[in-house]
This record gives sequence, structure tokens and C-alpha cells, in this order.
Amino acid sequence: MTKLRLGTIGTSMITEQFVEAAKASGDYTYQGVYSRHIKKANSFKDRYGAAKAYDDFEAFLSDDAIDVIYVASPNSLHFSQAKEAIMHGKHAIVEKPMITSLSQWTELIDLAKEKGVIVVEAARHIFEPNFVKLTEVIQGFEGIYGASLVYAKYSSRFDNVLAGQEPPIFSTKFGGGAVNDLGIYTVYAALRWFGKPESVHAFSQKISTGVDGKGIVILRYPDYDVTIRYGKIITALASSEVYGLGKTLVLDAITGVEKAELVDARTRERKTIELDEPSENPLIWEAKAFADVMKNPDKEESKEKLNDWLSLSHDVHEVLETIRQQS
Ligand SMILES: NC(=O)c1ccc[n+]([C@@H]2O[C@H](COP(=O)([O-])OP(=O)(O)OC[C@H]3O[C@@H](n4cnc5c(N)ncnc54)[C@H](OP(=O)(O)O)[C@@H]3O)[C@@H](O)[C@H]2O)c1
Repeated sequence: MTKLRLGTIGTSMITEQFVEAAKASGDYTYQGVYSRHIKKANSFKDRYGAAKAYDDFEAFLSDDAIDVIYVASPNSLHFSQAKEAIMHGKHAIVEKPMITSLSQWTELIDLAKEKGVIVVEAARHIFEPNFVKLTEVIQGFEGIYGASLVYAKYSSRFDNVLAGQEPPIFSTKFGGGAVNDLGIYTVYAALRWFGKPESVHAFSQKISTGVDGKGIVILRYPDYDVTIRYGKIITALASSEVYGLGKTLVLDAITGVEKAELVDARTRERKTIELDEPSENPLIWEAKAFADVMKNPDKEESKEKLNDWLSLSHDVHEVLETIRQQS
């Protein structure tokens, strides 16, 4: 297969960005756009050069010329839409969080195996070359003494909540809330860097709509703790830090890292880690990685990559489930 034929669900900014990344990767052609509104679907199709526009979900799913469907709807719809895509024999690239309860994870993955297709979670940062490089730096530490990971950014949609509205990202009905939206990135980073924790201890602050607006989590490992702070109703300016024996890694962000330094724990001398320039479109890395595996599913390397992504995704959702239950 030379190129994957892409279909998309959702017409917001993230779909625009993914479609641009997919096209720029050279691995996809754009076959179909689905929107609940045909006018929106047509305008998206014209802007991004899709072959067809749909407002009929079943007709979209039944398009034989679509190989893979990118799902970027509100969180609570991901599971059912990805399931439908798989049932129609399509691969699925599902925006984070791929599911909103752990039981859905197993159902989705089992179904994909049964149907002989691939489902992946679009946790974009773990595919970014700078994130991969920093993972190697952390793996090279002599000892790990803990970490403090932060991702809290005020959402303009919180202004809508304050004005009495309930946008999906702040709605329980749509699987909204801070941990599902931003906390997930920090949990992915923690589990990629330190593995699965022994226990999880979570506290959150609920907002008027019933979702968590911000939260704190302690992940306990046998010899150290990793603390996580996330939020959508505040902006945190603090760096994320990983503590090694005699040195601290300081990061300006968890996703799209642009600046990283190693600080000597004794002298406080700072050494900049050389990173790649920020990419014009950070979704290109996941788009390429997913296409490689979907085009060559039988290669040993593809199987290993898929196993790695899925096992990480499973552990992340196990932790998220505990966080949601506790907070
Ligand atoms: N990876 C990243 O960097 C990143 C960044 C932002 C968001 N995301 C993820 O992308 C997903 C979408 O986020 P968003 O902020 O773009 O969400 P959103 O604006 O609330 O909705 C996205 C799209 O879903 C459709 N939609 C909205 N409400 C719906 C409803 N009630 N029923 C069915 N479809 C509905 C709309 O498309 P139509 O009106 O055309 O049907 C809309 O364009 C989320 O899961 C989020 O976590 C990821």
C-alpha cells in the first residue's frame, strides 16, 4: 500500500492540524470528512482537499476508499465512534483520551484484533523527537530520585463555564475535565519515563459543571515519588523536573518541549541539552509513526511498536481510572 486513505471525524482545530500533518507526511491521501453538518463537511473538504464530504455517519463508515479514520470528537464519543470504525474494517487513530473507562480499552483492542485492524491513541508528545531524546537522557541517569511534572494551562473555554455554559471539554456528559484533557499528557510522560507506579494518590478540585478543573497526583514507586500537577482553570508557570543522582533535568513543558537543561545538584551549574527546533506541525511525528505501522502491520518492528504503544496506553488508562475514582 503506497498511501493510507484517511477519513476524519470532527472539524475543529485539531482535525485541521492532523490533516495537515498527515498530508505533509506524504503517507496519506484525504478521502473523506464527516461532520454532523453537511455545510461544515463541505467547507472542510474544500479547504483541505478531501475527496468526499459526509453528514451521514453510516455512509462515511461504509466508504470503501477509506482505510483509516481519525477520531477527534468530544472525549465520550471516541469509544463508540472508534468501535464503529473498526466494525467497518477501518484502522482508527483516536485522539486522547481514546476511552473514558478502562473496560472500554480492552473491548476496543480486542475488537481491533478480531477484525484485523489497528487502533492507536494519538498521544502526540511521546512521538516527538525531543521527547524521545529526553527519554534517553532520563534512562541514562544513574539513579532516579523522583520527579515533578506540571501541565496546567488556563482554557478560554473556562470563560464560557464562568458565563454559565457547558462546553464539552468541561462537561461530565462528554468525558471532559482536566485530567482527561491535560493530566493525561503528564501521566503518559511519567509512565514512559518511570514505568507503572506501585500506587496512585489523587486529589482534585471540581468546578460548577462537575468535572475536575485541576488536580494533584502522587505516583508512588518503590524508591521515590513522582508528583503531577495539571489544570485547565489555572496557568502554572513552574518547570517540570526529573531528579537524578547529583543532577536535575529541567523541562519547559511536557508536550512540545523546546528547552531542557541539566542542573548540577551540588553546584547548580546549568548545561543546555541540544534539542531539535520546534516542528511547524508537531502532529507529523505521530502521523508518520502510525502510517508506518498501519502500512506494514506484519513486520516484526511494527508489531513491537504497536505492542509498546498499546501497553503504555493501557497502563496510562489504568492510572487515569484510579485518579478519576479518587478525585
Ligand atoms: N492532540 C492534541 O494536541 C489535541 C489538541 C486539542 C484537542 N485534542 C483532542 O481532540 C478532541 C476534540 O477536542 P476539541 O477541543 O476539538 O473538541 P470540540 O471542539 O468540542 O469538538 C470537536 C469536534 O467534534 C464534533 N462535535 C462537537 N460536539 C459534538 C457532539 N455533541 N456530538 C458529536 N460531535 C460533536 C464537532 O464536529 P462537527 O460539528 O463537524 O460534527 C467538533 O468540531 C478531544 O478528544 C481532545 O482531547 C487533542
